[in-house]
Order: sequence, then structure tokens, then C-alpha cells
Amino acid sequence: MAEGRTRPAWAEVDVSAIRHNIGVLRRLVEPAALCAVVKADAYGHGATAVGAAAIEGGAAGLAVALVDEGVELRESKITAPILVLSDLPPGGAAKAVAGGLTPTLSSVEGVEEMVTAARALGTSHSVHVKLDTGMHRMGADPQQFFDVVAAVMSARELRLEGVWTHLAVADGGTDEDRAFTDLQLDRFDDALARLASADVLPPVRHAANTAGAVAWPRSRYDLVRCGLGIYGELPLGAVSSIFGADPGTVPLRPALSIKAQVVSTRTLRCRRAPLLRAPAPARRALACRHRPARLRRRPAPCHVRLRVRSAHRRPAAPAGRDGDHGPDHRRLRSRLHRVGR
Ligand SMILES: Cc1ncc(COP(=O)(O)O)c(C=O)c1O
Repeated sequence: MAEGRTRPAWAEVDVSAIRHNIGVLRRLVEPAALCAVVKADAYGHGATAVGAAAIEGGAAGLAVALVDEGVELRESKITAPILVLSDLPPGGAAKAVAGGLTPTLSSVEGVEEMVTAARALGTSHSVHVKLDTGMHRMGADPQQFFDVVAAVMSARELRLEGVWTHLAVADGGTDEDRAFTDLQLDRFDDALARLASADVLPPVRHAANTAGAVAWPRSRYDLVRCGLGIYGELPLGAVSSIFGADPGTVPLRPALSIKAQVVSTRTLRCRRAPLLRAPAPARRALACRHRPARLRRRPAPCHVRLRVRSAHRRPAAPAGRDGDHGPDHRRLRSRLHRVGR
């Protein structure tokens, strides 16, 4: 739980939801295994708590973006396999070997650094090689890819455990997006076939993020790498509706909730609502009690400040049984009634 110092608002992370979501996604992608993506402090949920819950929930391993993120997980006594998704920075190979992290390699120079680091510790080390099939963020281009794999295969210090790629628009619902995802998977399949024809059979082939895992069964291969899904979110409507279309699908549960202490309550007549000058989601949340169920939305996030603007300031009602303190007060009250209408 992360608590603000002065504002009585906080985020709560329900690790049982993480375990639940891992179970739901695992059943969906079987026989593929699931790797829980806990980069960027588990998308802000807290990497050590989420990482431990993910392994308890049946994840085969964890994935991080940075070597240091992996080292932090090791320091919290997580012993499961940890895949580093980004290229290693200078000096990263030695840290990865010392931390028992599985690096992703996409250049021959990267392979050489890993060999040197593994040799220095006298170990042999598992690595994955990434093929860029079209996202163009990281990974070896199709010409380099086979050189990188060959360099790994010829190094006694390294074991080729996996090859992978990353889908750029698996969450996209347009024909163009779908065609591009198919193209990326075709390119990946071609590369795998070329490796197989040279008797190179990496045990773990993977391509899918959450959108791929849910909406692209052909992208599941041996392992899927889920981030969003394990936190209880599905990307975009296209993916959510595919997930919900199967009557056997159990819904994911959001792991994060934002809470705040109630410091003040008001009772407003329904017709007062137009006086609110709040951002749309907050207005919806306030108004939702008076709306048909189909229009109800999630509650407003706590950082939305509600400003209730009153056109006229009313003085406090004078004390008294019926609030009537003579002609002056009656005049004031009828004036207030007129302006308040
Ligand atoms: C390489 C890679 N794989 C998988 C994921 C998980 O993606 P998602 O959160 O959409 O499941 C990410 C996240 O950015 C990623 O960078």
C-alpha cells in the first residue's frame, strides 16, 4: 500500500487478484506457459510483491526490462527464472550472470560480452535471442538473427534456451493491424523453420504479450509474456470482447484500487448536478446513482478534484426551533428563496 503523506488517499494492490489472473490466463493459453511481466515496478504495482504472487499463482517465470530490476527481485529471494527483455547495457552481462538472470541478446557483440562474463564466473548460462519481426524497437534484424544464434550455439559458455519476438499491434482491431500481426508471426515462423532445418530447436519460442495471448492463439507458442492481463486489464475493446465471447472465460480482476478517506459528504438535490464544474469522469461518478445501470461507470480516480461551485453563498441559518427569528429574518429568508430558485 502506498500512502500519501498529507492526502488521505492510497493505492491498494490485491495480490490474490494477481494469482487469480495468472490462473485465468494460464488456463486460456495452455499448453503454453506464462511469464509474468513485472517491469517498471510491476507497472507500478510493486515488483517484489507481484513477482512473488505471480510465481505462487503458477507463472513459469518473470520478465523485467532492466538488469537492475532483475537484481532487485533476486534480492527479495525470488529464485524463479527472470528474463531481461531489453538489450544489456555496458557492464550488464556480468551483473546478469552474477544475478542468475536470463538475458536477451540481439547482436554478436552482445553474445561476446556474455561469453566473457560467463567464462569469468566459470558457468554456462541460458540466453534468449530476439528477432525483430517489425516492431523495430529492439531485436536482431532478420539478416543478423542467424549470425547471433550461430554465435550462441558455438559458445560453450552459453545455452540457447529461447528465441522470441514482440508483436507491435496485437491489440489493434483494424484490418491493417491484423494483417501486420499475421505478417510478424509469418516472419517468426519462417525464422523458426530455418533454424529447424539447421537442427536448431530452441526449447522456448515466444511472441505474445497479453493481447497476443488472448486474441492470437497462433502466437502462443511455448510461452506467453503477460503484463496488462495479470494486473486485471485487457487492452482495447477488440481484445476484451474476444475474451468475453467465450462463455467459459472467467473474468480478470483488477489488482489495483485507488481509495480515499471520506472527509466530507453533502446531500444535493438531483437538479443541483448541473452546477458541478468537474471533469467528465468525476461528474459521471457523482451522477451515477441517478443514472440507468447501463450508463454507470467506474468511480472517479481520487486525483480528480471535485469543485462544487455555488452561485450564491448562503449564510448559515439562524438558530431556533423553526429558524424564524422575526420579520428581519423572514425578509432575508424570502430573499434567499428567490435567488436560490
Ligand atoms: C517485450 C515485451 N513483452 C511483453 C510485454 C507485456 O505486454 P502487455 O502488458 O501488453 O501484456 C511487454 C510490455 O511492454 C514487453 O515489452
